[in-house]
Amino acid sequence: MEPLPSSSPLPRVCVTGGGGFIASWLVKLLLSRGYAVHATVRDPCDPKNAFLKQLDGAQENLRLFKANMLDYDTLTAPFAGCEGVFHVASPVPEGKLVDPEASASSILLLGKTCLTVTDLVPHTTVQKEMMTPTIEGTRNVLKACSAMNVKKFIQVSSVAAAVYNPGWPQGKVRDESSWSDKEFCRENEIWYALAKTEAEEIALEYGKKNGLQVISLCPGVVFGPLLQHMVLNTTSKVLVYIIKGGPDTMTNKSWPIVDVRDVADALLLLYNKAGSSERYLCSLDLLDMKDLLEILKNMYPNYSYADKIVDADYRIEMTSHRLKNLGWKPRKLEETLAHSVESYEEAGFLQVSEPCRLPFLFLVPTVQE
Ligand SMILES: NC(=O)c1ccc[n+]([C@@H]2O[C@H](COP(=O)([O-])OP(=O)(O)OC[C@H]3O[C@@H](n4cnc5c(N)ncnc54)[C@H](OP(=O)(O)O)[C@@H]3O)[C@@H](O)[C@H]2O)c1
Repeated sequence: MEPLPSSSPLPRVCVTGGGGFIASWLVKLLLSRGYAVHATVRDPCDPKNAFLKQLDGAQENLRLFKANMLDYDTLTAPFAGCEGVFHVASPVPEGKLVDPEASASSILLLGKTCLTVTDLVPHTTVQKEMMTPTIEGTRNVLKACSAMNVKKFIQVSSVAAAVYNPGWPQGKVRDESSWSDKEFCRENEIWYALAKTEAEEIALEYGKKNGLQVISLCPGVVFGPLLQHMVLNTTSKVLVYIIKGGPDTMTNKSWPIVDVRDVADALLLLYNKAGSSERYLCSLDLLDMKDLLEILKNMYPNYSYADKIVDADYRIEMTSHRLKNLGWKPRKLEETLAHSVESYEEAGFLQVSEPCRLPFLFLVPTVQE
């Protein structure tokens, strides 16, 4: 793809991890709204990223950059000339993050006097696959934003950074003031939530100290149609598992579902309307797993569906009123589900012959309130 001329009059922004499920919908939205878009991908030659070049407007206004969040030097070129950066890239691991050397790694820490949260988790798979890319990746991106004179930084966090706090008053609806308790996450090995909480805190703090306008969005569980049909992201695998069924047991807990296109809308809305250091939760009303299954079965009676579901005395209420007050209008759940299923059918992900397992992230223990 030809580089964009640096004199291009369009507003210019960068999206990290542009080939991902959420990021690719954001790239598509930005192109449709007249932005010149820089998107980072780890491997521009990977066939799974080829779809980006087919998006409307991509030939003229999208430029791909090879970058790894762990390599600061790869981040300055994609941010050059950009007014804003949407930091979406971060791992959403599918399998269990194992920790075979935890005791050995804690011995290594004994000589340190000032421990950070990345020191406090095992220096093994957890560190390498989750904590370091999420936390150090965010630090690198923030530093590169400052170096390249970027003005606005939108951090994609998660409701996982907001709901794992057993100290939250019972029955009180969670809003943006609710943060996950990092020590609780570490003790219960909820590494994804720990990493997202730490990264979001770092970003908001960095913005205050360094004059960068930082805004964070905490989406719920994101479903919706896929723009690329070669690989499934982790949360789409969850919905495919629910539809196809398999050997794993699910918990009948409530889910904060949100459509991937509504997440992209929310990110652009924040970019244009939110103030500095603001945080926004982003999901529809919560839905129990069994209710979700009922809706799907009524819409598509011919699939086999997950049938191993245990009841859980667990419900977290949260509100996205702050985002709605800014003008966010999410679509109805039925539309999200219909478009997800159509997209999976088209890509062949619902074929019976493909074995199916529930991603580990969705087997994490529930918080007792
Ligand atoms: N899906 C959800 O339900 C959900 C909910 C709340 C928040 N989020 C957040 O939304 C973001 C995107 O998630 P997604 O669901 O769209 O997942 P995804 O499709 O798996 O996207 C993750 C992206 O991060 C990139 N990435 C991972 N490690 C990287 C590194 N070291 N350097 C550069 N890129 C790296 C991946 O690149 P490769 O393609 O090269 O692997 C991929 O593009 C994440 O920050 C996630 O925490 C997701």
